[in-house]
Amino acid sequence: MPTAAPTAAPTGPTPENPPAERGERSPPPDGGVPLLRVGGLTCYFPQRGGVLQTVTDHVKAVDGVSFDLARGETLGLVGESGSGKTTVGRTILRLITPVHGVRIGGTVTFDGQDVLAARGAADRALRRDMQIIFQDPAGSLNPRMRVWEIVSEPLLVHGLARGKDRLLTQARELLERCGMSRAAAERYPHEFSGGQRQRIGIARALALNPRFIVCDEPTSALDVSIQAQIINLLTDLQRDMGLSYLFISHDMAVVQHVCKRIAVMRQGRIAEAGDRDQILTDPQHPYTQQLLAAVPVPRPRRSA
Ligand SMILES: Nc1ncnc2c1ncn2[C@@H]1O[C@H](COP(=O)(O)OP(=O)(O)O)[C@@H](O)[C@H]1O
Ligand SMILES: [Mg+2]
Repeated sequence: MPTAAPTAAPTGPTPENPPAERGERSPPPDGGVPLLRVGGLTCYFPQRGGVLQTVTDHVKAVDGVSFDLARGETLGLVGESGSGKTTVGRTILRLITPVHGVRIGGTVTFDGQDVLAARGAADRALRRDMQIIFQDPAGSLNPRMRVWEIVSEPLLVHGLARGKDRLLTQARELLERCGMSRAAAERYPHEFSGGQRQRIGIARALALNPRFIVCDEPTSALDVSIQAQIINLLTDLQRDMGLSYLFISHDMAVVQHVCKRIAVMRQGRIAEAGDRDQILTDPQHPYTQQLLAAVPVPRPRRSA
């Protein structure tokens, strides 16, 4: 007999089943409804001063950002360092929360759910559905844990698997799916190259079978020759698992390769957004033109 927790549908709202806990899990009719909708998102960090370290001002890291992301789509978020890209990703995932003087505003809707207000079961489901891949695979993997422990930890945390055998088996499958050998599971992160460590980070992000992944400069720390391999892996996984990506990069060359739609960030706002080809051939914003000028690929140029 299955020993899973009872899942019988409640007959109506009761004190045991408040509306937020019931969570409407039925998929909405997908008439092109975006998977992710971000509306007027803001994230202000406090600046403190004086002996009492009181909040004197705020850094408007994200200052009114809006975009939609369709199912299975990759949206590129480009912009120079400090323009607020990482903060957008981390705020959407609620890795940044409105505590200690941090101010967050606007709306984030994932599959019809209000992300910023989610509590209880809805919150837990969203934390499985929305994942992140970090720029620095070395810094994001605990050096004291074996690879299988790192990869399967999310399963343990969410109570989806337990016991070394189950966790090890699942970790090996995830590693294989990311182009690593099963034997990698028993080793430590420092035994691997940067590209392999990023594969481990990706395997961990896939553990909970997410639908959406923030890829925050996933190839920026890697040699150019390795970058293409990781991008190919991400593309294959997207095709096989129907993933949606927010692909963050300061590198227009990478983004134009990966994304059909691009949003250009500058000083906490989206300076320009649109179809890749339109952005590349006819950038409207001077800042976008600047970013494109830095791309070392042959582009049509009017010669005298
Ligand atoms: N935790 C934080 N506290 C204070 N300021 C922050 C914090 N995180 C980011 N910032 C500031 O917010 C701005 C945007 O940073 P970030 O989102 O990391 O940009 P990007 O990813 O585009 O390089 C920068 O000015 C940065 O210094
Ligand atoms: Mg960043």
